[in-house]
Amino acid sequence: MMSDKVALDKLLKPKSVAVVGASSQPGKIGHTIVNNIIKDGYQGKIYPINPTATEILGLRAYASVGDVPDAIDLAVITVPARFVAGVVEECGRKGIRALSVISSGFSEIGRHDLEEEILSLARRYGMCLLGPNIVGTLSSSDKLNASFAPFLPYPGKAAFLTQSGALLIAIDAMTYTRKIGFNRMISIGNMADVDFADLITWLDQDEDTSCVCLYIEGLKDGRKFMEVCRNTNKPIIALKAGISAHGAAAAASHTGSLAGAAMVYNAAFRQAGVIQASDLSNLLDRTLALSLQPPLQGENLLVITNGGGIGVLATDAAERYGIPLHFAPADVQEELKKHMPEFGSAKNPIDLTGMASKEWYYQAIQLAYAHPWTHGLVVLYCETAMTNPLEIAQSVKQAVDETGIRNRPVVVSMVGGPRCEQAMQWLVENGIPAYPAPDQAMNAMAALREYDLIRSRKNTAATNGCSSHSAEIARQIIARARADNRLALTEIEATKVFAAYGLPVTEISLARSEEEAVALANQTGYPVVMKVVSPDIIHKSDAGGVKVNIKDESGVRAAYRIILDSCQAYKPEADIRGIAVQEMAPLGTEVIVGSINDPTFGPTIMFGLGGIFVEVLKDVTFRVAPVNEDQAMQMVNEIRNVAILAGARGEAPRDREALAHLICQYATMVYDLRDEIAETDANPILVYEEGKGVKVVDARVILIE
Ligand code: ACO
Repeated sequence: MMSDKVALDKLLKPKSVAVVGASSQPGKIGHTIVNNIIKDGYQGKIYPINPTATEILGLRAYASVGDVPDAIDLAVITVPARFVAGVVEECGRKGIRALSVISSGFSEIGRHDLEEEILSLARRYGMCLLGPNIVGTLSSSDKLNASFAPFLPYPGKAAFLTQSGALLIAIDAMTYTRKIGFNRMISIGNMADVDFADLITWLDQDEDTSCVCLYIEGLKDGRKFMEVCRNTNKPIIALKAGISAHGAAAAASHTGSLAGAAMVYNAAFRQAGVIQASDLSNLLDRTLALSLQPPLQGENLLVITNGGGIGVLATDAAERYGIPLHFAPADVQEELKKHMPEFGSAKNPIDLTGMASKEWYYQAIQLAYAHPWTHGLVVLYCETAMTNPLEIAQSVKQAVDETGIRNRPVVVSMVGGPRCEQAMQWLVENGIPAYPAPDQAMNAMAALREYDLIRSRKNTAATNGCSSHSAEIARQIIARARADNRLALTEIEATKVFAAYGLPVTEISLARSEEEAVALANQTGYPVVMKVVSPDIIHKSDAGGVKVNIKDESGVRAAYRIILDSCQAYKPEADIRGIAVQEMAPLGTEVIVGSINDPTFGPTIMFGLGGIFVEVLKDVTFRVAPVNEDQAMQMVNEIRNVAILAGARGEAPRDREALAHLICQYATMVYDLRDEIAETDANPILVYEEGKGVKVVDARVILIE
């Protein structure tokens, strides 16, 4: 459910705040919060609520919110968990629309009942509820520190939303050392009601927010989050913690065993246009750039340095982050050459050499940054005895400002000691992100490039091209399997489901006798493949249950008997339903497409190099379903070994278009049947030469219990 805008306004920009559980006793959270609200300069009304006190920290106290004569926008609740429901009820009766529940002791310790109770009370009275189990909210623009974090963050325009309260307090302090400006910091806790999506929607409209920075442990409604992020007009950057344990339980298919949280979140974030951070420090590096600089609207990145070493490091990093450096155009090089020693380089990086003075930096920036070729600038500096880092920093800022250009990003890296530290702080205070290592500067620039690409891709979400006729056929097949008490469809059933969605499958039918097998093989045409059909034999090859390339009738008869004998020996109690006779597809490049029903994002598809080595190669990629043809083609082209499909070692290129089309249809199928299907694999799918299509030769479908 989406919290309403009016209630969120009151939560985040309240004109009056009651602190329920306010205390005169220093050291108590209820004391700290009142003190913080006063000390950090909040201009609205403050009402401490305490059962016995008449005055707290110089403010008149009330026994209950009901006793306050005026309207209250926000109630910050800091009483022990068992009393919270009573307080929420009083707030509801008072007509308060927004609650910030600091108290711990709810779902995080298994007390889902208590959390449900306060949530249903909040819903009944139309209140939004932030938390419980939070540090609170901080806003520099409103001078409101309604939290027990010690002070408002270093001022700026980023907003930080975090599921870890302790991290909020730590980052709050770090904003001063890193000089990263945040306007709002919001501890989101158990997300009983207000969640990331609600807050991002609100922040998108907030004029004091330029970028949204997220620390995520787990989303409740992945699709709502994706939808909101996709429609947001500000950069969103996220650090997802806890990517190692997720998905461990799902292993009934190849896809299930490969679908770790890292893969699925990565896919969802990409589709939703969320920029990712690799760790905490990277989150802050990227936030700094995104909150201060415009996006990088092209690939012509210019690097100016006074040291070859850091220039090479930056070049390597640029390549690693997907923005490889190109040589500067000849006219830029020619002009720059006039302003540097013989032994310098005007290519890219532009190496002004260790002799570079602040004037050289100034000239080089003026010439190169202002040139129409340039999309963005990275300035590097190694501390030298002859230069003062602060003066270099000031020179960089002056040169950039004087060009009058506002839409090309600039980042700086100054490598050195305390003087560089001081110079970088000055730069950041003056709107230019600066980092102690060239790699960090390049990574920040890569985030600005990523944001530009995200903006240009916005609103290309796939629509679900579902077909009710296909779904009807598939559901009938599934219903029969369920009636038979089976969660795993047989290969024949799975193939029929795939065929209902128009996937190019091989012809396959069930023979219940040797004679039937012969008849089916004659009808299909030789060669054929024969496979055991038994709900008790999942790994058919291991049981000797598969024979390929059967060329004639006598081969069919022999295979029928051999398969039966070896499967009966492999698992005497196995319920063998018969032997499938299948058209033998010509050899092609083996790939896999599969799906899982992710607990957070729902139906999610995988594509990768397939066959028997799929789990060894792990060359796979994911997307949350459905996907459009473009996204499907991106999947095909982003696996590491795409060269195999593009025509490696003189082989003809494979039919990637047919493959992308199949992925698209497949995603529609699993999205349509998301209430039925847990996991699927189409493995292998054979991909033929361009124009010759693809063929699914093995299908697996596992149903939801
Ligand atoms: N209305 C108003 N005031 C009340 C009510 C009520 N219904 N009931 C109790 N109070 C008062 C109490 O009398 C007390 O005031 P006093 O000091 O004048 O006696 C005050 O509320 C606080 O109640 P206490 O019983 O003293 O509770 P305490 O302050 O010890 O703890 C708290 C309350 C902070 C909510 C605690 O239960 C809790 O949940 N702590 C964890 C909070 C937390 O860490 N949240 C963030 C997690 S994220 C992270 O990791 C940082």
